Amino acid sequence: MNNFYRGRRLRQSPAIRRLVRETRLSVDSFVYPLFVVPGTGIKEAILSMPGQYRWSVDCVVDECRRAADLGIPAVLLFGIPEVKDAVGSEASSPDGTVQRACAAIKKALPELCIITDVCLCEYTDHGHCGLPDENQYIQNDATLERLAQTAISHVRAGADIIAPSDMMDGRVQYIRQALDGAGYIDTPIMSYSAKYASAFYGPFRDAAGSTPQFGDRRTYQMDPANRREALREVLADISEGADIVMVKPALPYLDIIRDVRESCNLPIAAYQVSGEYSMIKAAAEKGWIDEPRAVIETLTSIKRAGADIIISYYALDVAGWMGEG
Ligand code: PBG
Repeated sequence: MNNFYRGRRLRQSPAIRRLVRETRLSVDSFVYPLFVVPGTGIKEAILSMPGQYRWSVDCVVDECRRAADLGIPAVLLFGIPEVKDAVGSEASSPDGTVQRACAAIKKALPELCIITDVCLCEYTDHGHCGLPDENQYIQNDATLERLAQTAISHVRAGADIIAPSDMMDGRVQYIRQALDGAGYIDTPIMSYSAKYASAFYGPFRDAAGSTPQFGDRRTYQMDPANRREALREVLADISEGADIVMVKPALPYLDIIRDVRESCNLPIAAYQVSGEYSMIKAAAEKGWIDEPRAVIETLTSIKRAGADIIISYYALDVAGWMGEG
């Protein structure tokens, strides 16, 4: 046993461990995702995501207030429409659920940052993120205009940041130009840049009723086996004008978060997706793991990998636990 290095010296007390801790979670990093539905007085449990709900506009304002009171700086809104159709008409409707939620939240909580997910899959009857042709091929360029219209309708309603999650090519540039053209030159785009075709979106699709009715999303979302491709996607989005880039899901892609951290200087967001949430929930409900510890450990690893911003359904719980020390 040599006495030059003895790692245990710095692990001997909670105070020393705190002093030398390299990664710290802060409520400032968290974004809380919320599902908004038509109607009033609705707080409907999402069975595949225990502890998460579908909220009507009036109720989502109260939930946002809880988030703001806990110090969470931002929410991410997903809308579920009254009716779904082939082109996802309600996505860009001025009185769609997300648009009404933006207006109501902005009015009640002007300081809270509202991020909106821009995509068509929650709004289309076929459940795809883009518009299919008669051969069920998802058309890239025909989709861009619908995304741009949707983005503008969100900003007009009060959204502070636009988050396109569709994975069509060239959408960041298209949306940037559309926003600039509409006078919204200061509205940032947080792009879902490296979005993998993941099994971990299962509970979300249940929550949003957005499971594809034919095929899957592998023609536009990324192959989980690919690493260099993530950098191509990220660099393309940056060159198109993205202000924040995202890696999604988070835990199975920590190496990608690290790669992105080392190849760009933009803020990086990582999305701890529905399946990551529900997996911890389910194991905790069975008494197989300690939920707060498992959550803090995974979120810390996401931060350690290089993320600045963490989108998590656990945001409120974590903020509560941190408040309790
Ligand atoms: C919409 C979208 C999805 C998620 C975020 N935006 C679903 C998907 O791509 O199927 C997933 C989020 C989650 O699982 O928590 N395109």
